[in-house]
Amino acid sequence: MTDNDETLQVELDERSYPIRIGTDLAVGCISEADRGQRALLVTDANVEPLYGKSWEAKLDALGLEVRKETVPAGESSKSVDMAAKLYDAAAAAGLDRNAIVVALGGGVVGDLAGFVAATYLRGVRLLQVPTSLLAMVDSSVGGKTGVNIGAGKNLVGSFYQPVEVIADLDTLASLPEREYVAGLAEVIKYGIIWDAELFSKLEANMDALLARDRDLLGPLVRRCCEIKAEVVAIDERESGVRAILNYGHTLGHAIEQVCGYGGWLHGEAVSMGMHYATALSTKVKDLSGEDAGRIDALLSGCGLPLVPGESGIPGDWSAIRAAMATDKKSQRSVPRFVLAEQIGSVVFGCEGAEDELETTYRERFT
Ligand code: GLY
Repeated sequence: MTDNDETLQVELDERSYPIRIGTDLAVGCISEADRGQRALLVTDANVEPLYGKSWEAKLDALGLEVRKETVPAGESSKSVDMAAKLYDAAAAAGLDRNAIVVALGGGVVGDLAGFVAATYLRGVRLLQVPTSLLAMVDSSVGGKTGVNIGAGKNLVGSFYQPVEVIADLDTLASLPEREYVAGLAEVIKYGIIWDAELFSKLEANMDALLARDRDLLGPLVRRCCEIKAEVVAIDERESGVRAILNYGHTLGHAIEQVCGYGGWLHGEAVSMGMHYATALSTKVKDLSGEDAGRIDALLSGCGLPLVPGESGIPGDWSAIRAAMATDKKSQRSVPRFVLAEQIGSVVFGCEGAEDELETTYRERFT
């Protein structure tokens, strides 16, 4: 541990684990007893040139036998085929049950490598090293792993907790602007679903936020991880309250599926989905026009899309509606939404009348 290390704990009994947030962070989950064990370091083509070598060296210095696998950057790598390639690499590298998979990258790498760790030999240790804002505040924490299939996003996966999360804030400086902004969607989400004070802090510090001010980002990442850890500790497998983390995701996932994975970044699709869920909330919940306006203003002020604009998504409601029906949260093909009552407070499991869903979509997206 270093002086820069702030550690939070995800409390899940024997599967509890630390989230370390800071710079120049030590790896806590590898001990002297691990010397000689195998490590599969999974990264992508964008992250590898920046941090691949240093992480290889770090794991090597801890006495691990490291095999590095670099997948193409982007959502299309979150596939069953790519998982199969990684299983082959794991076998070729001689991973056994004492081995560790290290996911070095953004949400795609974390979900893919996490799924491989969860399933290879029925589970080997997983270390999450998120290098994107979105992965730091959301996908690396909480144990959701998985891949996409043609029928829908994240339809194949497992709940599998890492043994540790190491979020090095220095990596945020190298993040492409579009990726950084996409990560802000998930940060804003935490304000809407849980913490009105966080939401106001984002509104009041927009310039610093967009300038990636470290004094702001450190506490922000920490606060988002605190909220996520709290929610996951209450409901690890999403039988209840964890669903609130999906604000904006019902339409967001449908947009990603209909547009082909990778057209919109996940955070961008979620931003449009939050715009839609917010509009729906003013109709079927008591969300005030003022709060809805603040949500839309914060999203667009950060440079996030509210609607697809020129680049477009098919305006075709039936395609979007069909994609929503395959969403994991649907029941008997009826899509379920998280809706807001006010900033900082949401309800999950809302069904919404068919005509309301369609009218709201047509008003906003066509
Ligand atoms: N990203 C939503 C969740 O982890 O539950």
